[in-house]
Amino acid sequence: MSKKTTKSVTTGSQAAVEVNKACYDVVPLPKHTQLTSGEPFVLSSSVKIVYPTANEKMRKNAEFLAEYLYQLVGYKPATTTVKPADKYIELNNSLRDNNTEAYELHVDSKSIQINGASEAAVFYGIQTLRKATPLVQGNVVFPAVDIKDHPRYAYRGMMLDIARHFQPASFIKKYIDILALHNINTFHWHLTDDQGWRIEIKKYPKLTEIGSKRSETVIGKNSGKFDGTPHGGFYTQHEIKDIVQYASDRHITVIPEIDLPGHMLAAMSAYPELGCTGGPYEVEKQWGVFDDILCAGQEKTFTFLEGVLSEVITLFPSKLIHIGGDEAPKVRWEKCPRCQAKIKELGIKGDEKHGKEFYLQSYVTERVEKFLNRHGRNIIGWDEILEGKLAPNATVMSWRGIGGGIEAARLGHNVIMTPTSHLYFDYYQTTETDKEPFGIGGYVPVKQVYSFEPEPDQLTAAQKKFILGPQANLWTEYIKTPSHVEYMTMPRIAALSEIQWLDASQKNYDNFLHRLPRLIDVYNRLGYTYASHVFDVQAVLQPHPANGALSVNLSTIDNAPVYYTLDGSDPTVNSTAYTAPFHIKENATLQAVAIRKTGSNSRIFSQEVKVAKSSFKPVTLLTKPDLQYSYSGATMLVDGLYGDKTNYKTGRWIGFHAQDLVAVIDMQQPAQVSEASLRNYVETGEWIFDAAEIIVESSNDGKNFTSVAAEKIMDKHTTHWAEVVTHTLKFSPVTARYFKVTMKPVSAMPDWHPGKGKRAYIFVDEIALN
Ligand code: ACM
Ligand code: ZN
Repeated sequence: MSKKTTKSVTTGSQAAVEVNKACYDVVPLPKHTQLTSGEPFVLSSSVKIVYPTANEKMRKNAEFLAEYLYQLVGYKPATTTVKPADKYIELNNSLRDNNTEAYELHVDSKSIQINGASEAAVFYGIQTLRKATPLVQGNVVFPAVDIKDHPRYAYRGMMLDIARHFQPASFIKKYIDILALHNINTFHWHLTDDQGWRIEIKKYPKLTEIGSKRSETVIGKNSGKFDGTPHGGFYTQHEIKDIVQYASDRHITVIPEIDLPGHMLAAMSAYPELGCTGGPYEVEKQWGVFDDILCAGQEKTFTFLEGVLSEVITLFPSKLIHIGGDEAPKVRWEKCPRCQAKIKELGIKGDEKHGKEFYLQSYVTERVEKFLNRHGRNIIGWDEILEGKLAPNATVMSWRGIGGGIEAARLGHNVIMTPTSHLYFDYYQTTETDKEPFGIGGYVPVKQVYSFEPEPDQLTAAQKKFILGPQANLWTEYIKTPSHVEYMTMPRIAALSEIQWLDASQKNYDNFLHRLPRLIDVYNRLGYTYASHVFDVQAVLQPHPANGALSVNLSTIDNAPVYYTLDGSDPTVNSTAYTAPFHIKENATLQAVAIRKTGSNSRIFSQEVKVAKSSFKPVTLLTKPDLQYSYSGATMLVDGLYGDKTNYKTGRWIGFHAQDLVAVIDMQQPAQVSEASLRNYVETGEWIFDAAEIIVESSNDGKNFTSVAAEKIMDKHTTHWAEVVTHTLKFSPVTARYFKVTMKPVSAMPDWHPGKGKRAYIFVDEIALN
């Protein structure tokens, strides 16, 4: 990673408040905080932490608090079971509350009291107290307060893939500490995949002897070039027990994932008889979804799975065991005599929705489920386990959007929501990807994470009860080092913690941003690597039809001074200081920077504005964009802002799927137009095609339109292509007040395309009339 991306920001967040005063506006925000009128509590080195006798978990809680305070204020309060007369922090687990994670935190001049409905609840009270504590050496003043708090969701998850790139046990502990800081109670540990088997299984030693090592790794995105460097690693059962205990001490359940029947090449390279063809196989060196999966037509596959899972359940006390189930191609099963015989023997039939091999995967899942159920455990799987027949007691992890979660909840199954659109932390967190460590793609900034609502409107209140909670996932194809893992995790995990902890009505992104710098002070103190994009200048750029201009609103989360230029030059302290929103009416390249007094400049925000006659005019869409790609809607088409050429998910491209694009632009008075220019984003691999037809019409009353120009576009490609295409229609000048622009996608994707016959997407960033 470049130095640039790992630098820490000195936020100055303490400057605005008294430096030694605690502040209860932490992340995640407690449900009820009532400052009271009493004298504050003064924390000093003589304060003691009191915990109930004969409760080992509470003793550990007390030790955690002492250690956390030591990290922040430089002295470590003594812990004791004997309550002093005055000046102590008392921990109790005697609160009566239906929510077992509820706690209360009370501060007065004599003591700080944390009382929880369980030891875990007390731990969250401790986390709140910890995050309220400023980073100062010396005494700290805690204002008198009454806090009552409990989480919205009982399942608060974070997944880390250590199969693609191994991380040592010591780092897993650090990662668990990061989860604890964010009140997360479930660590989903993705332990096996095509590129590496990472858990010691005594019955099958070759899993780690052979399956934990790959000879080399592909460079970039399956470039065909390899790094020539072996990669490997695994956890011994001793290490795993130690990590599970470490997590348990921090009230975190570890859910292990053994991904089956796909993503099994590492295991099959060790035991090739597990595959349909018998191999040979090798531990994968590239990324993707591979055709070779476990053979479902032979008993030895089940003997193997039960052998592995028997050891897994002795190591992991978690009620839920993750069995993967994602991305299992059926091509081998379609050809395998054993798999086909099994299908016959079981009387499996396909239907209009799924071929018979999908039902064979359901059979595998259900057998594994029965085995685990017999041992008192339940399965959780990726949403592919819905394809075919859902195993009776399975929890579904909805990742390909929220649709799987909706379907499962309607079927009365528990659901974890973890959609790629909001909660995939391997995706980029900024549109300026050239300045980032290389990544898988996508775009999930902090704000996108924060905006996620786990309970979709399509569900009834009763169905919503099946949503156990949200989780974020960090896949590590392109993430090798611990510091890169941290960089992708923080601060998005802070936003995650609020969607896990807060009720929807309590969420407020701006308020969250203002609380975030104090949490980042803790990251700095603990030496965590994090992404600092949230400290960059935030620009809200919106067409303002009344003024015929683009309004520009610049801000930072800590109100740092912002300077800008409009001519494309780099802004400095000598540039114009931003004091209030302003307007842009002509072509410009806006550049803005936050310059903090510490001299740590933010990255430069840069945006070109290209003005046409139609820019910033009132615009109406007569058709609906795709819900996932509608962003701020119609005005995106006339805002003078053009989209990224390699990423259609940045919010500059508006996408249509089930519909044509039909937009009416009101020029506000008769305007002469002789040219219409539209840009399409094309990436056929993502089902996004070029337009098939563009029609321009004009009108003076906005009701009766006459044709001005039309163009049909022939796409002659016979293989995938990706490009940003500008379509310019020139015509004899027409003077009119209203212009209607229609863009039609291809009615069906061509035969060479995997989605042949289906409707394509179109993505457009701008309509420019001149
Ligand atoms: C997944 O991202 N393959 C679950
Ligand atoms: Zn087979």
